[in-house]
Amino acid sequence: MKSWSGDKAMVAAICASGTALVSMLGIASIMRHGASTIPVPTLVTTAQAAVKSPELTADAAQGRHLFLMNCAHCHGDDARGDEGPDLHDLHRSDARIHEVITAGIKGEMPSFGKKLGDSDVRQLIAYVRTLHG
Ligand code: HEC
Repeated sequence: MKSWSGDKAMVAAICASGTALVSMLGIASIMRHGASTIPVPTLVTTAQAAVKSPELTADAAQGRHLFLMNCAHCHGDDARGDEGPDLHDLHRSDARIHEVITAGIKGEMPSFGKKLGDSDVRQLIAYVRTLHG
């Protein structure tokens, strides 16, 4: 009987120290997480900002530049349309826009296939995709 209660005390002691150990580990991991999460929110906000205003992507910014040089005199500086149509919210595939830019539209829009390379056209499409509303 005596040794049984001795065992019980032993078990209790092990449990108690186990609990202490777990709670220490818990605090340690909270501290570790706390420290590592400090820079994370800033990173996430920057990433979200980049997604929210796609003009911040290098491609779209470059595309906007190409647009002002080559397209704005027909489609308007803000692409709201002038001689050419408004380019906001186009329901066209990238492939279709690519084709329109490189091949042009007979009697309506010049072809840019000789003037603009593939990456230029890609950047123009990236810019056009930022135009909403
Ligand atoms: C000479 C004037 C002119 C220039 C320069 C011009 N466009 Fe156009 N564009 C037009 C006209 C006009 C149309 C509409 C043709 C039609 O609807 O048949 C058009 C149509 C388009 C369309 C198709 C829109 C749709 O709803 O399918 C896209 C995309 C486009 N242009 C992009 C561009 C880009 C990008 C540039 C510069 C690289 C450019 N355009 C330069 C006159 C121009």
